Amino acid sequence: MSNYHIKNLQEYFQLYRKSVRNPELFWEEIAEENFVWRKRWDSVLSWDFTKPEVKWFEGAKLNITENCIDRHLHIRGDKTAILFEPNDPDEEAEHISYRDLHERVCRFANVLKGKGIQKGDRVVIYLPMIPELAISVLACARIGAIHSVVFAGFSSTALATRINDCDAKMVLTSDGSYRGAKTIALKEIVDDALKECPGVKTVLVAKRINSDIHMEAGRDEWLQPLLDTAYADCSPEIVDSEDPLFILYTSGSTGKPKGMLHTTAGYMVYTAYTFKNVFQYREDDVYWCTADIGWITGHSYIVYGPLANGATTVMFEGVPSYPDFGRFWQVVEKHKVNQFYTAPTAIRALAKEGTVHLEKYDLSSLKVLGTVGEPINEEAWHWYNDHVGDKKCPIVDTWWQTETGGILISPIPFSTPTKPTYATLPMPGVQPALMDENGKEISGNQVDGRLCVKFPWPSMARTIWGNHQRYKDTYFSAFENKYFTGDGALRDEVGYYRITGRVDDVIIVSGHNLGTAPIEDAINEHPAVAESAIVGFPHDVKGNALYGYVILKDTGESRDRDNLRKEINQQIADKIGPIAKLDKIQFTPGLPKTRSGKIMRRILRKIASKDTSNLGDTSTLLNPEVVQKIMEEAL
Ligand code: PRX
Repeated sequence: MSNYHIKNLQEYFQLYRKSVRNPELFWEEIAEENFVWRKRWDSVLSWDFTKPEVKWFEGAKLNITENCIDRHLHIRGDKTAILFEPNDPDEEAEHISYRDLHERVCRFANVLKGKGIQKGDRVVIYLPMIPELAISVLACARIGAIHSVVFAGFSSTALATRINDCDAKMVLTSDGSYRGAKTIALKEIVDDALKECPGVKTVLVAKRINSDIHMEAGRDEWLQPLLDTAYADCSPEIVDSEDPLFILYTSGSTGKPKGMLHTTAGYMVYTAYTFKNVFQYREDDVYWCTADIGWITGHSYIVYGPLANGATTVMFEGVPSYPDFGRFWQVVEKHKVNQFYTAPTAIRALAKEGTVHLEKYDLSSLKVLGTVGEPINEEAWHWYNDHVGDKKCPIVDTWWQTETGGILISPIPFSTPTKPTYATLPMPGVQPALMDENGKEISGNQVDGRLCVKFPWPSMARTIWGNHQRYKDTYFSAFENKYFTGDGALRDEVGYYRITGRVDDVIIVSGHNLGTAPIEDAINEHPAVAESAIVGFPHDVKGNALYGYVILKDTGESRDRDNLRKEINQQIADKIGPIAKLDKIQFTPGLPKTRSGKIMRRILRKIASKDTSNLGDTSTLLNPEVVQKIMEEAL
């Protein structure tokens, strides 16, 4: 039995037990048998959650692109590595073979080097879902530069914050992007951001929409001519296991976004291993994850995990609703997709359209369906299972986070019996724990608590870029010697996990993590606003939507409310991005506060959710009268 490929439930349990009894041996065997190393490790794991410090495969040397590309060349040179499906269904799909990918990554890597990028330098990538995005990620990894992809839906302010936080020297972008029927002027957003980013010396621009854009002399250059003249081979920079691979920003409940730092070897081993098992990928399969590479799902399960397994991975530029809600299914039929991985919010949006679009296409190629990003509700699960999978495709409800790098809890298809809304069982090597409010681990089944992990796994983030103390405070301080996820979960009678949602002030809207504090800060910058509080409320497509309670300054009281609402949302779109706009804005004279001045969000959440039958204990409030007023005027 190989550790690498789980084939049935009995094997899963055997491997799981082995991975807990002897984690080092377990991961060492996987690492040894399935990857290319330039030098072997001296130790498999050293760790200390009190510092916190975690090191996997210390002393080993490798390059991740050698594992994702070069080693496949002699057996899979002509196999499609990346299958690019454009936004416009009439534009031809592009099949990039492993050989082509090698050449394009090498050329790109040489361009980066030619512009002075060296090992350890940070490169911010602000590109739409076009091949250059995946290729530039790999090109950075080829030369040991640290990529930081910023989702190309973020605003210029959000982009600038990230560029400055990681002190990037270079930005990669495009003239613009296609998104359904819209085009977005990406380069303009970059130009705006760079007014605040003196450290950026070079901007390389891919051409996508052929728009007329401003090119700043001495800073901006078109990418294609540089690629055309670059040398088509570039030997990989051999790095240490724990050398940084990338920084990816994620929202915190407070403060600026956290630059989660992932390192090389552990991330590679774990994403490859989980890709193989969670999707049961077989050599000739076509795998499609609909996420954007701007999120961790795209990093781990469009780029690194699939390519490390020599897979064919689809990269889709468009949106599920363009030209109509049948687009996903048209792509599944066209490319005979075998594994399909998407978010509950997309499933809900598609389910709303009924099954008319599904009926037009042949989905018989599908074998495994996946979901990620937020809890999937029972109705959406059944729709996916019955209508998309025709009750034949196991659904893998994969629970994980930007911080975890890879999937931690998920069924293994054809092995683990699925159960709607349950992420089910931990991956081998993952040791979850449920904790009570007093910091004690809850044993047994049929319990719920705060979800922690009590032993390191290879792809965990190693720190927050530039702020190790924040890393410690956020993830390792709530519970002694444990990684705290910020999620609540329950464990059923057979030990299956169900993730119930965030227990902090992060709200997941359409699968995107949004911290309340940064949105409140954006609102409070509006000249008419004195104070605000954001909470989530249930939404049938987005999962959660945002509800804002806003106190106006005296000077704002005379303003037209609808105009103010528009301005506030515009302010949020400018500071963060359109994804953080509020669905409802209620103006209020006050907010319920405790005597220590803390806003009691529990009450605001209940009012926003129209669940006011039992508001709980309000006796500790400084201003209980305001609650009645807010209830009367609730939207
Ligand atoms: O609350 C959990 C939710 O998404 C959070 C992580 O968000 P992010 O870092 O953006 O990564 C999303 C993609 C991996 C988690 O803390 N979440 C993610 N997957 C699930 C989930 N909640 C329930 N079920 C899931 N399958």
